Amino acid sequence: MAIRNIVKEGDPILTKVCRPVTNFDDKLAVLLDDMHETMINGDGVGLAAPQVGILRRIFVIDIGEGIIEAVNPKIIKTRGRQEGSEGCLSCPGEYGITERPMYVTMVAQNRYGDQFTLNAEGLLAKAICHENDHLDGILFKEHIIRKLEPDEIRAAEVK
Ligand code: NI
Repeated sequence: MAIRNIVKEGDPILTKVCRPVTNFDDKLAVLLDDMHETMINGDGVGLAAPQVGILRRIFVIDIGEGIIEAVNPKIIKTRGRQEGSEGCLSCPGEYGITERPMYVTMVAQNRYGDQFTLNAEGLLAKAICHENDHLDGILFKEHIIRKLEPDEIRAAEVK
């Protein structure tokens, strides 16, 4: 495993729409392992492939309940709403209050190409929305209701 460089806001890579994964091979497994390590190293709870310069529909999330690997994810249902703090490893030092769905149903594939369905709520639902947005070139800032000032930033829930 290796820690990869995280692409920062301002790089056009973060504005691109990612392509689906078609090869479930060793290269994908290495990428997922590296993304996991890079996310942990950055003290984040999620990381999307474009954030390490790979324009493919892949993200990893760990909110403290174990790693979730999502390849070719699709959010098929959302319900409710939540407001809370959010940040992003590609936008260091910037946090804001965002509005997100409270409940999300996602279908995705794992690293072997097997499809699974995940029902998520709360922080996990927020993280899925955040990472899925990265695959369409959207940053969390587009969901900010109010920016957090430096003295308000204690611990952001998602980055
Ligand atoms: Ni992010």
